[in-house]
Amino acid sequence: MSERKKIKNILTSGEVDYVTTVKGWVRTFRNNQFIALSDGSTVKTLQVVVDRDNTDADLLKRITTGSAVSATGKIVASQGSGQSVELQADSVEVLGDSDADKYPLQPKKHSLEFLRDIAHLRFRTNTFGCIFRIRHSVAFAIHQFFNERGFVYLHTPIITGSDAEGAGEMFQVTTLPLNEMPKDEAGNIDFKQDFFNKQTNLTVSGQLEAELGALALSDVYTFGPTFRAENSNTSRHLAEFWMIEPEMAFADLNDDMDLAEDMLKYVIKYIMEHHQDDLAFLEKRLLDEESQKPKNERSPMPLIEKLQFCVDQPFERLTYTEAIKILMNSKPNKKKKFQFVIEEWGADLQSEHERYLVEKHFKKPVILTDYPKDIKAFYMRMNDDDKTVRAMDILFPGIGEIVGGSQREERLDVLMARMEDFEIPAHEMEWFLDTRRFGTCEHAGFGLGFERLVLFLTGMANIRDVIPFPRYPGSAEF
Ligand code: 4AD
Ligand code: MG
Repeated sequence: MSERKKIKNILTSGEVDYVTTVKGWVRTFRNNQFIALSDGSTVKTLQVVVDRDNTDADLLKRITTGSAVSATGKIVASQGSGQSVELQADSVEVLGDSDADKYPLQPKKHSLEFLRDIAHLRFRTNTFGCIFRIRHSVAFAIHQFFNERGFVYLHTPIITGSDAEGAGEMFQVTTLPLNEMPKDEAGNIDFKQDFFNKQTNLTVSGQLEAELGALALSDVYTFGPTFRAENSNTSRHLAEFWMIEPEMAFADLNDDMDLAEDMLKYVIKYIMEHHQDDLAFLEKRLLDEESQKPKNERSPMPLIEKLQFCVDQPFERLTYTEAIKILMNSKPNKKKKFQFVIEEWGADLQSEHERYLVEKHFKKPVILTDYPKDIKAFYMRMNDDDKTVRAMDILFPGIGEIVGGSQREERLDVLMARMEDFEIPAHEMEWFLDTRRFGTCEHAGFGLGFERLVLFLTGMANIRDVIPFPRYPGSAEF
């Protein structure tokens, strides 16, 4: 028995005249002779040439699209065009049959919506193979980036009693019987009888716990699932998404922006270097898809050029106040083309405004800083103007907000006053306040939406297509 080789290794080595075994799933089988075999290691298929005259007719019939096959034979230089090497099979075995009439994935183009319904099988398509290979490498590159810089990967809790963002849109966690919740004397649900003796929820962010780590280990990051029960049925929101949250002690907002920009560029470069085939496939997919659209809805650049462009450009940095001026003077605002017309300073920016700044005005990634305090979270450091906070959002072409971060309020009195403004009870946050009581220091961090970065890198349009099993309002399949 010869050892199984992955198709990627066979194709990249280019070696010929050796015997090996390949295993994978049949994409197509032409002429009772040519199998296009995929094992998911690369977007490319290996051509397996079957000796049809000396192969049992029953076996030939079982080689169908979707079946799992093992083939052993010699790797030789390919006769046909389109591939450099092929496998001349001496033996072929069908490991798992696939009824061609019933197999949902036919060798033709399927819509992304259809594939979302059969997300358990969509990994077997070229598009989703590319996406999930890239997704893996994005995670790997992020860990590598932080490891090279001496950051400690901190695992923050998934079940928590705190609401880090103060947004209140959380999934509750309880073991109490939903049909007869125990009540206390005042008639409220008695969470003292619950599993944790208190009310708990799935985390919306690991930031507050990461801050605790940073104020001892200096530089930490979290990378885990986060949950938001916001009813956002958009192409950029998930109810369950993964977030990377670095936190640095002895760092201010400029250090924070530098870190975020360096990290994004590092990851983009890593993917461009290691996923050329996948990116080329996705770029072509996007061009095909957009060729159906009117010119003004197409991407201004092909995928790979766009990625290179973002690596080469310094991100544009400006304050919220400067951005509001640009937006108020912009054509779509004056002509009331925005769905949300900006009337005054203080307005929250919508995705349409963010994308205008990035795609129309600056034509490159943008970092906005110093937002009005009323539209940002309680923990952000107050500026001397008493109106704005040391926040920063990074806006990306085609995506809008990809990173949200800030310098943190390290002054105990100011932080407590802010918590009062937000009606956050201090007694529930003593653990957080302790870091400000004992050895507080300047610190800063941010959150990167992992799926939004994968969306950007793959040129896909819907966030539901870059996570294996998306969770969104009305859907928690698989
Ligand atoms: O801006 P957000 O809400 O910031 C925080 O959670 C902070 N605690 C981060 C920090 O400073 N440590 O979320 C951060 C990022 C956003 O910029 C966005 O990319 C992503 O997380 N994000 C989502 N991604 C997918 N689906 C959702 N519902 C998302 N909500 C936020
Ligand atoms: Mg945000």
